[in-house]
Amino acid sequence: MNIDELQLVARSLVAGQKGILAADESAPTIKQRFDAVRVDSTEESRRRYRELLFTTQGIEASIGGVILQDETLRQASADGTPFATLLAQRGIHPGIKVDEGAKALALFPGNKVTAGLDGLRERLADYKQLGARFAKWRAVIDIDERAIPHRYAIAANAHALARYAALCQEADIVPIVEPEVLMDGAHGIARCEAVTSQVLEAVFAELDAHRVLFEGMLLKPNMVIAGMQCAQQASVREVAEATLRCLQRYVPAAVPGIVFLSGGQSAADATDHLNEMNTMGPHPWQVSFSYGRALQAPVLAAWQGQENNAAAAQRAFARRCRLNGLARAGKYARTLESLA
Ligand code: 13P
Repeated sequence: MNIDELQLVARSLVAGQKGILAADESAPTIKQRFDAVRVDSTEESRRRYRELLFTTQGIEASIGGVILQDETLRQASADGTPFATLLAQRGIHPGIKVDEGAKALALFPGNKVTAGLDGLRERLADYKQLGARFAKWRAVIDIDERAIPHRYAIAANAHALARYAALCQEADIVPIVEPEVLMDGAHGIARCEAVTSQVLEAVFAELDAHRVLFEGMLLKPNMVIAGMQCAQQASVREVAEATLRCLQRYVPAAVPGIVFLSGGQSAADATDHLNEMNTMGPHPWQVSFSYGRALQAPVLAAWQGQENNAAAAQRAFARRCRLNGLARAGKYARTLESLA
């Protein structure tokens, strides 16, 4: 394990105004996103779309890394430059999603555990050769008002995340540890805070037991937020306060950065929440983003698969990157959404 390299990469992913673009949608997920804008999902349409993202001018000011998936890491731009090289030349670290998705947890109805540990050491060696500097593994924690998640589901996911993180660090790849408590449901913000607290406590206990170097990893959590179907939605300030309270209690100061997922929030809400937290600093860790939908939804809407929309799509992407970069410094305002 090269401790210096791990620390350097982890810190540079969240340096200054930077965060991460999650562009690692699995084939079924990207198909859903493409269906919504009536684009056929083929290997070539996925390649074209991702080339559009990765070649957008100016994004390197606020994007320190991009999470790819297996197919994309092996693809190249139209001029034949592998995507990993293209990104690295722009000073953006290429990353790779290595989990194999959340599966039903046997004998625990309504609970899931993420698969993908078998053969992971060999896959990581391959990804390192292909240029990946960091990785992602997503645990999915379903939530309801009382019985879900079961504590065994939390324990099983925490254990898998720690096994994954240790294997990454052994291969000199920075692990992004993502325990996502879902936003789906009618539960209130207090229930989300209680579950997120239990999950983070379990995850850091397992990471520690597995000898994972906190300085050489990033945490990718959900924000603490009311369920999407909850009648009583919390204010931006309440979300920021509850999220920071939870993180301060359970995330060691040695972790260089927290990079939130957007989880179904609108692009503007995700930026606003991030901004609010950054107005409440200083914090022991960088407070940043690793958004998928909140960075890409406006891009897909502008693109619609049409070549003559590519410039507008890139403008929409550059704008979202810029606004989230501002939110990293607590300098975003909702009024900026209506400006060009
Ligand atoms: P969202 O920001 O769309 O939640 O995606 C981030 C991610 O990588 C989920 O694993």
